[in-house]
Amino acid sequence: MKQQHITVFGSFVVDLMSRAPHLPVPGETVKGSMFRIGPGGKGFNQGVAAKKAGADVTMVTKIRRDTFGNIALNTMKELDMDTGHVFFSEKSETGAALIMVDENTSQNAIMVTLGACSEITGEDVDSIEETVKNSGYLLTQLETNVDAVERVVDMAHRYGVTVVLNTAPVQPISDELLKKVDIITPNEVEAEILTGIKVDSEENAQKAAEYFFGKGVKTVVITLGKRGVFVSTAQKHGILPVPKVDVLDTTGAGDAFNGALVASLAEGRDIWEACVFANAAASISVTRLGTTPAMPVRSEIDRFLSEHK
Ligand code: RIB
Repeated sequence: MKQQHITVFGSFVVDLMSRAPHLPVPGETVKGSMFRIGPGGKGFNQGVAAKKAGADVTMVTKIRRDTFGNIALNTMKELDMDTGHVFFSEKSETGAALIMVDENTSQNAIMVTLGACSEITGEDVDSIEETVKNSGYLLTQLETNVDAVERVVDMAHRYGVTVVLNTAPVQPISDELLKKVDIITPNEVEAEILTGIKVDSEENAQKAAEYFFGKGVKTVVITLGKRGVFVSTAQKHGILPVPKVDVLDTTGAGDAFNGALVASLAEGRDIWEACVFANAAASISVTRLGTTPAMPVRSEIDRFLSEHK
């Protein structure tokens, strides 16, 4: 099967990441042990994850022509990604995320200021119609302004493009949007917030899936952290385990999963095979520091899969 094109529509922000022996409580100053600055944002991480996994990707995002914006453009050039669908804001700066990671537990706390990528206009979306139309998949999240997400999902749905919605950062989703989503990929916390069902067993995960099916979603993929990933389609459901790895930083693991998932689907794999592939990409990413830079390349994912049969 010919590899299908993927449009990834989402946020770009610069990640300012510090690690420390513990996360500060309000009012506390903690001495950090390490600081890094690099490209991030859920949309961008997912676009890079898909590209590095071997996919044919168009990344759509919005930045400003400023120092942080240049980080997006330079990263895309290094990865041989087309920058022709990056929009430029005249109003707001390129966004930034302050990420604090507890070096003992790998837990993190993130404060993200979206800036330019929360200002994607209807005109911006309309200008990518040809690209969306010629894609097999649209992968998007909830980190840009939601009216733009709704518009691009509507466009993709009209052209029969498979819509994959990663529900991060979680927020209410209209029924109108949900009914145009083919594959939804919440984590367990997001699934509970969106459905009201605590995803603490396979049975309850299926109940959450049925909530989404009732809204018109066709396939439900709930990531469960180290418990694996729950997959539910009209035909069957079950949990795919994840291999045990030495975790360094879980930030961006969901993004690695989503990007690799869609890369694999676009090669013609079914949802089960694609989730195994995506689990491998996410497992590798958590053994590395940072977000966009932690995304594995295809040969690393293939090697991991052959070592963890
Ligand atoms: O999912 C991780 C991402 O969320 C980080 O790169 C950060 O930018 C935040 O938006």
